[in-house]
Amino acid sequence: MQGVLTLGQFIIEKQNDFPYAKGELSRLLRDIGIASKIVNREVNKAGLMDILGDAGTINIQGECQKKLDVFANEQFISALKSGGECCIVASEENDEFVYIDGEVSKNAKYIVAIDPLDGSSNIDVNVAVGTIFSIYRRKSVDGKATLADVLQNGTEQVAAGYVIYGSSTMLVYTTGKGVNGFTLDPSIGEFCLSHPKMKIPEDGTIYSINEGNYVHFPEGVKKYLKYCQVEDTDTLRPYTSRYIGSMVADIHRNMIKGGIFIYPTTSSAPNGKLRLVYECNPMAFIIEQAGGRATDGYSRILEKDVTSLHQRSAIFIGSENMVLKVESLMSEYS
Ligand code: AHG
Ligand code: MN
Ligand code: MN
Ligand code: MN
Repeated sequence: MQGVLTLGQFIIEKQNDFPYAKGELSRLLRDIGIASKIVNREVNKAGLMDILGDAGTINIQGECQKKLDVFANEQFISALKSGGECCIVASEENDEFVYIDGEVSKNAKYIVAIDPLDGSSNIDVNVAVGTIFSIYRRKSVDGKATLADVLQNGTEQVAAGYVIYGSSTMLVYTTGKGVNGFTLDPSIGEFCLSHPKMKIPEDGTIYSINEGNYVHFPEGVKKYLKYCQVEDTDTLRPYTSRYIGSMVADIHRNMIKGGIFIYPTTSSAPNGKLRLVYECNPMAFIIEQAGGRATDGYSRILEKDVTSLHQRSAIFIGSENMVLKVESLMSEYS
């Protein structure tokens, strides 16, 4: 069996991809990996501990926070604090960004945006959940980092990744030089390279959308769903519908098998539901690096102007030809 390559070894090996970096990004990715292992431990025994159910608090999204949302958020923030490589953490679970004060952190050059626990509605029913993270270099050169350092376009990302706590726990990330996937080997407590140079198939036969919102979908989306459902063996239709309710799990499946994930505008989410800074931008960076496509139905996610921390966007993401097909219907009908 080929030798095991751990995430730590891989990061160091790839270090020379960044001649200017003096190891800070490597240490930052290590810190995220450590927190992921702690969250994984809790996710795997959620039913045995008092961490199922609601925390009894509402976040700025208006969502009822789960205990695991809060636990995961605390783990990532404390790992990033003690690692000393980032000066700001912007989290789904915090109304404002968290400034990491401290002699070392305040001069750190990285910003981390994070969805600590994605797919919270799946926690209590033992279905896959995830974590999504995005890393930016701070733009301000001195003094305290500010909100402007967080509200950067997706094209400015230095790195992005996700963790999926599923049948196995995987960490998948990019630093702009392709996408690599690591599977946690619990027997040694290490993420090991299992999916090198991940590429999403440019075609797919799986579409992933919450059809419960059908009535309020844009006309172009309705037309696309009908296109997916038409019998046409030459184009392998009807396609298969799969919707897990965790963006990370739905997109990871499509990354492996090909497919499209759509969360369009709906009546309850007129700007889309998913958050640009810590869900859409990182996933768009990863999918583009794997050869896929990510837009809001009209324009590239990574180029959207970021004006607020919890800003939402519609998202059409996955196999390039599937996204192009629904975009053509969006421009024709919407
Ligand atoms: P989060 O749990 O971080 O708030 O994200 C949930 C998101 C995303 O993971 C998923 O694709 C989507 O919400 C599901 O939304 P619906 O339940 O409205 O389909
Ligand atoms: Mn949430
Ligand atoms: Mn989420
Ligand atoms: Mn979340």
